Amino acid sequence: MTEFDRASFFTIHADLPREGPGETADVAWAAEVSNLRPGARICDAASGPGGDIGALLRAAPDAHVTAIDAHGPFIEAAHARWGADKRVALQVGDFKAITGPYDFIWSAGAVYFSGIEYMLPLWREALAGGGAIAFSEPCLFTASPSDGAIAMWDGYNRLTNTQGIAAQITRAGFQTIATRMLSDVAWESYYRPMEDRITKLRRVADDRMHIALDKAEAEIARWRKHRAETGYLLSVVKPA
Ligand SMILES: C[S@@+](CC[C@H](N)C(=O)[O-])C[C@H]1O[C@@H](n2cnc3c(N)ncnc32)[C@H](O)[C@@H]1O
Repeated sequence: MTEFDRASFFTIHADLPREGPGETADVAWAAEVSNLRPGARICDAASGPGGDIGALLRAAPDAHVTAIDAHGPFIEAAHARWGADKRVALQVGDFKAITGPYDFIWSAGAVYFSGIEYMLPLWREALAGGGAIAFSEPCLFTASPSDGAIAMWDGYNRLTNTQGIAAQITRAGFQTIATRMLSDVAWESYYRPMEDRITKLRRVADDRMHIALDKAEAEIARWRKHRAETGYLLSVVKPA
């Protein structure tokens, strides 16, 4: 991505409610299968603007959520919503460097930057005894995906199916407790606000911004076309 592309990207993405697909029901499900206890210490690792913080707080009475993201403006956006809440700590930082201890590490749409087999062992030390990690990972839902479905993931070389993800989790020294596919609602919760943003920016866009907007629209259209073939698999895992 060139410097200018980055600028366009962050203009499109500034102040969106979330930066990847997800919905409250995913968090509630993951917390339930993890047996999250009252007072749980939770990390939202690569939180973006904090779209999951409310659901995480609702998942366990008296929980405390530390939300970490590398992009300062996303944490600023989270601050506007959660800065006054004592149950929430917001940090600009690297999710690879979290130390914990946490009872629950939640990471939506970010583990795949480095991969399951790199990230899970890294987080093992940050996990309290009995703790769990929940993360979403690109996944193929068919044995014969179309080129368009594969292209959704920009050449992601670890792209695999549910069995392949489970195998990576095992090789990382963890066991899969439960999995579920992210729903269409989760994806539309990400893409509909982005579409509104695209419509607004079109009115004032220069040529370069139009190119970035075309790209964002193409991404949305591609997911809608190929959503039966690929998407995110949410896995809840614990050390083996
Ligand atoms: C696809 S977005 C998902 C954000 C959020 N979990 C959500 O679902 O709305 C990925 C996020 O990972 C963050 N990120 C990328 N590398 C990171 C790192 N090394 N440490 C912390 N955050 C990182 C990005 O800034 C971005 O907010």
